[in-house]
Amino acid sequence: MIAKLIIDKKREGRALGSAEIREFIEGFTKGEIPDYQMSALAMAICCRGMTERETADLTEAMMRSGRCLEWNLGVPTADKHSTGGVGDKLSLIIQPLAAACGVAVPSLTGRGLGLTGGTADKLETIPGYNASLSLDDFQKVVAEAGVSMTVQTAEITPADKKLYALRDVTGTVASIPLIVGSILSKKLAEGASTLVFDVKWGIGAFMKTKEDACELARALVSGAKAAGRKAAALVTDMNTPLGRAIGNANEVAEALDILKNSANVIKRADVALCVEFSSLMISLAKDITIEEARELCREKLLDGSALAKFEAMVKAQGGDLEKFNKLLTQPRSKFKIQAMKSGVISAIDAEKV
Ligand code: URA
Repeated sequence: MIAKLIIDKKREGRALGSAEIREFIEGFTKGEIPDYQMSALAMAICCRGMTERETADLTEAMMRSGRCLEWNLGVPTADKHSTGGVGDKLSLIIQPLAAACGVAVPSLTGRGLGLTGGTADKLETIPGYNASLSLDDFQKVVAEAGVSMTVQTAEITPADKKLYALRDVTGTVASIPLIVGSILSKKLAEGASTLVFDVKWGIGAFMKTKEDACELARALVSGAKAAGRKAAALVTDMNTPLGRAIGNANEVAEALDILKNSANVIKRADVALCVEFSSLMISLAKDITIEEARELCREKLLDGSALAKFEAMVKAQGGDLEKFNKLLTQPRSKFKIQAMKSGVISAIDAEKV
């Protein structure tokens, strides 16, 4: 394989063959193809795009660059991925809620990216919580607690780790096939048989328009289905911050509050969104109707089962919620912002906040 010929072919707008994509990614992962050639191909993909088949081949090649997990737990597996937003702590509720409904939730989660906070960073504000489990410990926690949230290790999709670092500095982040390859290869390697995507759009998200978010959502779902997974996506608004708290520890506290006081907050839009995502996971994973799944999710949120799953996961990963609750009672500073006149808040600029 001659890397330059493949770059030329994509630059001219022609579709690459499956073997060409596979060998290019393999060569790049092993260090046989230098960064400058990978960057050139990434730029050609950015400008010329990829067909659905090419995107699926790229995703598979990246997935196979590292370890791929398999689950034999006797229950279906499901995970939710969010493209991230301001105040987006929904995973902290959705994942334990889905686990409480009888699916196993292996969730390799991310660090903060741009103005979006990472679920791992949030969970690490709980004293003792280990968000950097080995893959073996990750598998143990999922088997014991039914849910685990930890950052991906270097064994998962090393091609993505290398490529993402290059994309970041070569102006090649904003490309649907590259984004799909990056997100989906990690999720496929994680091994869950059902994948649900929250693709956010707006000023607090990295997709700024609804149209772009819809295109990404369609590409993620079709890529996941092409890889033999059950998949669905919701495209959600990220112009206004999600929920009522922002900041890693504050968001964990808010999620805990929702899990503990679900009866009082179940009608809130952000809580309803959590129920909707867990319901999608459950409905696909357990092959039940969305109405049956919603009913089950509401029941497991209201009866404390989702809270129990969250607590079991935190304990299994070394976290101490009692210490966390004590720490949060002493904020370092507090201030009020006084409204200049009476009225109703209709929007809050997520990016400015
Ligand atoms: N998140 C990822 O993991 N990869 C991308 O390319 C964009 C967002």
